[in-house]
Amino acid sequence: MVKQEDKFKKVISHAKEYGYVFQSSEIYDGLSAVYDYAQNGAELKKNIREYWWKAMVQMNDNIVGIDAAIFMHPTTWKASGHVDAFNDPLIDNKDSKKRYRADVLIEDHVAKIEAKIDKEVAKAAKRFGDSFDKEQFLTTNPRVVGYAEKAAAILKRMGQSLEKEDLADVKALIEELGIVCPVSGSKNWTDVKQFNLMFGTKLGASADTAMELYLRPETAQGIFVNFLNVQKSGRMKIPFGIAQVGKAFRNEIVARQFIFRQREFEQMEMQFFIRPGSQKEWYGKWKENRMKWHLSLGMGEENYRFHDHEKLAHYADAAADIEFKFPFGFKELEGIHSRTDFDLGSHEKFSGKKLQYFDPELNESYVPYVVETSIGLDRMFLAVFSHALQEEELENGTVRTVLRIPAVLAPTKAAVLPLIKRDGLPEIAHEIIDDLKWDFNVSYDEKDAVGRRYRRQDAAGTPFCITVDHQTLEDRTVTIRHRDSMEQQRVAIDAVRNIIAEEVDMKNWLKKLA
Ligand code: GAP
Repeated sequence: MVKQEDKFKKVISHAKEYGYVFQSSEIYDGLSAVYDYAQNGAELKKNIREYWWKAMVQMNDNIVGIDAAIFMHPTTWKASGHVDAFNDPLIDNKDSKKRYRADVLIEDHVAKIEAKIDKEVAKAAKRFGDSFDKEQFLTTNPRVVGYAEKAAAILKRMGQSLEKEDLADVKALIEELGIVCPVSGSKNWTDVKQFNLMFGTKLGASADTAMELYLRPETAQGIFVNFLNVQKSGRMKIPFGIAQVGKAFRNEIVARQFIFRQREFEQMEMQFFIRPGSQKEWYGKWKENRMKWHLSLGMGEENYRFHDHEKLAHYADAAADIEFKFPFGFKELEGIHSRTDFDLGSHEKFSGKKLQYFDPELNESYVPYVVETSIGLDRMFLAVFSHALQEEELENGTVRTVLRIPAVLAPTKAAVLPLIKRDGLPEIAHEIIDDLKWDFNVSYDEKDAVGRRYRRQDAAGTPFCITVDHQTLEDRTVTIRHRDSMEQQRVAIDAVRNIIAEEVDMKNWLKKLA
């Protein structure tokens, strides 16, 4: 079995080798935790964004999308609570002088306990074979139950201490668990302190008049401040949603794990405005809807789970994460938050403007409650990419590297390959490309033996290869090879478009959400 760290290293190097993600400013030795999306990465990102946007905006007649500015009036961040409460608990190791997020140190410790559970499960599965009942094992094996209880107790205590801002107890927990600095190996810790994550900047040329601004740490506030504009101009009736995709910035101290935690990243957020009192119902519905969206991509039900928050953000009365099994374990991919009337209510206070909705059915005005869904586009990219990268042993004993990106998201849908570079085969290949490019991203490849080209396209994630050979000259048929099954079909050139469309058309994937 490939070790988790090895798998993750492979993900990072594959992303570079196949033109998905590059380190930013690499020629200057890079900028820590900042990445550029390359030719294939930009396409994959665009497709994920589109799949989200269509599922949220196009498929729901009560959700509309906006694109607000990154710069916002600085009072926005006072009102939202970010100036006072958008902090991370940090701890320094006195020997290595390295700084860590205290909660991440504790979560990493818990992940090690969870890895022990996985190990016990794998051992038992091997021992019991087909008769193995995982659920029963997880709930009855004393060692596993002990590990699970220990992990849950640690997370509970951490959540409660953070909630109460009891940073001394967070430090005490780190000490009790015997957590050591990954660099120095020592337990010589400072106290835990809070650190604000917003990036500051200035608007205006002269030093006296320049206005202090923040780069937005979430896109949500651009939606809240526009709530009434959208409601009135779109004549929206509650319940309704406003969606947005855009960049967000956080001065993450522990930015690591490749594109999982960055300082500049993209969020896909939707704020759903509802009647006060109905938040429990809508929170449940959006949890279910969002999980359905994830599952529609076919990346395995077992790779997702909900994690209900013990520690609630300053704006929420309930919150859950959809966690995904990344190569470094289950981690947050998306958050669903019941934000109450905190944001609109607070913007009312700070701006002095009413942000209320007149409900014609109740014949009264109120500040709507909000349920938010918030997913990181970069994190979704990492989920798709890391899950897709697989190494399979073939019948002939060779190993094939294949990037099984769901066809709907794949950057290039088909590669057209002339068997050889002469006899008129490249010309036919180009004709096919000229015809298909109106509907799909297609590429051309004539270098090397066709088998090697297939492998290259497998590794790049292209779902189809279309090979033009001498028989094509006689009967206008081609071979179409499927990336995942490696099956090959002989089909008429005229049939190729429909075969590809059947698998890549977003419509066919979105239908799974109905
Ligand atoms: N508006 C709510 C909000 O921003 P959050 O849990 O802080 O909530 C939502 O962020 C999502 O944004 C996360 O689930 C994650 O997918 C993504 N995200 C947050 N911080 C990130 C970072 N530093 N790098 C990449 N993605 C991040």
